[in-house]
Amino acid sequence: MKNILVTGAAGFIGSAFARYMVEKYRHYQIIVYDKLTYAGNLDNLLPIDDEENYRFERGDIANRETLKAVLEKYQIDTIVNFAAESHVDRSILTPDAFIHTDFVGVYILLDEGKKHGIERFVQVSTDEVYGDIHEGLSVESDPFLPNSPYAASKASGELMVRAYHVTHGMNTVITRGSNTFGPYQYPEKLLPFFITEAIDDRPLPLYGDGRQVRDWLYVEDHVTGIDVALHHGQSGEAYNIAGENQQHNIDVIHHMLDHLGKPYSLIKHVPDREGHDRRYAMDCAKLRALGWQRQFTFEDALQKTVAWYRENEWWWRKIKTGEFMEFYKQQYAARLAAADQRDGNS
Ligand code: NAD
Ligand code: DAU
Repeated sequence: MKNILVTGAAGFIGSAFARYMVEKYRHYQIIVYDKLTYAGNLDNLLPIDDEENYRFERGDIANRETLKAVLEKYQIDTIVNFAAESHVDRSILTPDAFIHTDFVGVYILLDEGKKHGIERFVQVSTDEVYGDIHEGLSVESDPFLPNSPYAASKASGELMVRAYHVTHGMNTVITRGSNTFGPYQYPEKLLPFFITEAIDDRPLPLYGDGRQVRDWLYVEDHVTGIDVALHHGQSGEAYNIAGENQQHNIDVIHHMLDHLGKPYSLIKHVPDREGHDRRYAMDCAKLRALGWQRQFTFEDALQKTVAWYRENEWWWRKIKTGEFMEFYKQQYAARLAAADQRDGNS
């Protein structure tokens, strides 16, 4: 392994992975390949901009020509695929891009990778492929029961990875991460959205009763999990990466508001997300058996995260304009108006 193409690494988790790999493995060339959609942001890669073993190329994983050129130019031997449309609410509003990237894009990446003779292919996937888990913990052999267009497109991508492993003998590994949070996360996702809204004393639109359960994983722990799976995972296998920290959304938001010193009255219960999964929870013993261990407690990670958004308004204020505001109106205007009406505020 020498020349690693990290796709989708101008986004949240991929950029954390690229920053980590560039520092940790000086003898690897880290080539980031990203389409720069609304979620892609070169600011996320600024800390490694001047590093000798890092390069950036703009391109779509579903575009054979640009992909082929980059695979050849850098003699790529390994692909780690983070590229995706990643937001569940957007998959309900506008699913086309999810099929394009999370399914067709993965297929084209595999197919061009195979033709090019890629030695290792890592697909970054999600606990959402297991669907709503009422009790217990998902293990890697559990069936897929995806419920949102996002989850279905990610599950479809995984199935294509499996097919290229079985049919063509490609060396593949899949990781399934749980709800990830930390610095540089696009402020449409629960924690960065609510932290940045709360800083401005704006209402926090919590879906339904807020008692949905997510398993919160700090981004730096997610990244080390992918590193372990990349280097030590068995070909053809999938590995859960869990935070082992299952909490109700409302409790997470209370903790966050305590850190910020803002009142709970900012929370507005709004009409629920359609098809909202109630609970995700995974067992990650299989990855731990490869030597992975989480380094961060939820409390410490949340504190670091809140502090980062407080100290880095330069990063998120410019995002929360234009396209973001269009999405905000589409997603939240009617929900917040319904909540106001219910509460007699209009
Ligand atoms: P993100 O939305 O922050 O970033 C996605 C990146 O992919 C962006 O830089 C975007 O420009 C790029 N991209 C999108 N379409 C592309 C295409 N067709 N070609 C090339 N680049 C493209 O996402 P994230 O939260 O960092 O998630 C990264 C990966 O991890 C995704 O595959 C996601 O499904 C998975 N995942 C995310 C979480 C989470 O909690 N955020 C948890 C588990 C798994
Ligand atoms: O579980 C892994 C998944 O986690 C990843 O695969 C996805 O890419 C990532 O976006 C995330 O999906 P979720 O749907 O769980 O994350 P999100 O931040 O959108 O929502 C977290 C919880 O908070 C969920 O129960 C919905 C709720 N929520 C979210 C938003 C944005 C609200 O109550 N209000 C909101 O405004």
